[in-house]
Amino acid sequence: MKITFCVAVIVASFAAVDARLVPNAVDFTLHPSSTPHIAPAKALLKVPLKTNPHFKRNARAAVLKAMNKYKMFQSDPSRHNLATTGTVNLTDYENDLLYYGEITIGTPGQTVKLDFDTGSSDLWFATTLCPRCVGKSRYDSSKSSTYHKDGRPWHIGYGDGSSASGICGTDDVNIGGLTIKSQTIEMAEKISSGLITDPSDGILGLGFNKLTTVPGTKTPVDNMIAQGLISKPIFSVFLGKETNGGGGEYLFGGINYSKFRGTLATVPVDASHGFWIVAVGSSSIGSTSIRAFSGIIDTGSTLLMLPNFQANQVARALNAVDNRDGTYSISCNVADLQDLKLNIGGKNYVVPAADLIFEQIGPDQCLAAFAYSGSNVGILGDTFLKNNYVVFQQEVPPSVQIAAI
Ligand SMILES: *[C@@H]1O[C@H](CO)[C@@H](O)[C@H](O)[C@H]1NC(C)=O
Ligand SMILES: *[C@@H]1O[C@H](CO)[C@@H](O)[C@H](O)[C@H]1NC(C)=O
Repeated sequence: MKITFCVAVIVASFAAVDARLVPNAVDFTLHPSSTPHIAPAKALLKVPLKTNPHFKRNARAAVLKAMNKYKMFQSDPSRHNLATTGTVNLTDYENDLLYYGEITIGTPGQTVKLDFDTGSSDLWFATTLCPRCVGKSRYDSSKSSTYHKDGRPWHIGYGDGSSASGICGTDDVNIGGLTIKSQTIEMAEKISSGLITDPSDGILGLGFNKLTTVPGTKTPVDNMIAQGLISKPIFSVFLGKETNGGGGEYLFGGINYSKFRGTLATVPVDASHGFWIVAVGSSSIGSTSIRAFSGIIDTGSTLLMLPNFQANQVARALNAVDNRDGTYSISCNVADLQDLKLNIGGKNYVVPAADLIFEQIGPDQCLAAFAYSGSNVGILGDTFLKNNYVVFQQEVPPSVQIAAI
């Protein structure tokens, strides 16, 4: 049953990628020397407070701004730093299949479990408006004193046919102790069967706001920055491994140096499509070299998905068998395999041979943790992220910092 479930999820994400990327028919090749396009909405964050009509008065943000302006006079900047960081602990579900964390919505706070996803930008979850959302924690807007009606409809569809839809509202949202005021929330009224069996109550998107299905919506991270809740416009991701006790952590506004051992190196991000896209240079597995590609850093994808050509190169080096559904079967014996080294920003980031096995599916047969994406862009999913700590920085010019765990 578990095997079927896993394969279904993989096929589903394969289809979703297809649906999301192929219709755009975009060439995702990065041009390192050109500046990424700047989405108009993002420019708002750069506008001085007094001339920005969308700015909501916020004492904390005003104090922070003044402090930054005069920081050369501060004796100990950390003592005066009003903004904080917010930590969300993650639960590692079903052997690194997916990771979810809890946040609260409204006043008093109602807890929901969300799949934190850098590959999308909507914040939606199950509500009492959704009769089919059985077994999920359901947010009830009538029990929140800070809820406000919006009324716009929203709808998200995935390539495998699963979908969710409902109406928008606004409410205060607490993420790791940081309270975002008047966040646009997408309240689910309907979810399809694939999402009913999902262990989370919804999804928290951490992509760029260009991807939101409700135009003009600020993502939770946009609001954390605009409302001065975090001292740095960053969030950092640590995904654990079941073999190491599982768990994981999102840290908003800071970097948790106790979660990794390597040195952070900065890499530019192409945000022009709304995704966190980095250039992966010519890489290697054993003595085989792997052609360069562009990769989306996606915490919401379980596997490492490579463009077809590169996936084949890796498969050949490991004697993997193409299952014709986007997945591969490989040997369950780690000694038969080799480490994959992805070159990002001139540094090699390793996915060890043991993590190229996702799980056993037969007596001598394992499902590989890499797959083919069916498009010309790769997806650096949890297989990559549970081996490498990533700090996401969305202000222009956007970048990530990556270090080996
Ligand atoms: C950083 O990680 C350590 C070790 O897991 C944890 O105890 C600590 O709470 C984390 N710090 C923050 C700011 O989240
Ligand atoms: C999160 O986990 C850390 C250990 O890594 C623990 O110290 C901390 O209390 C936990 N925080 C919450 C809110 O559960």
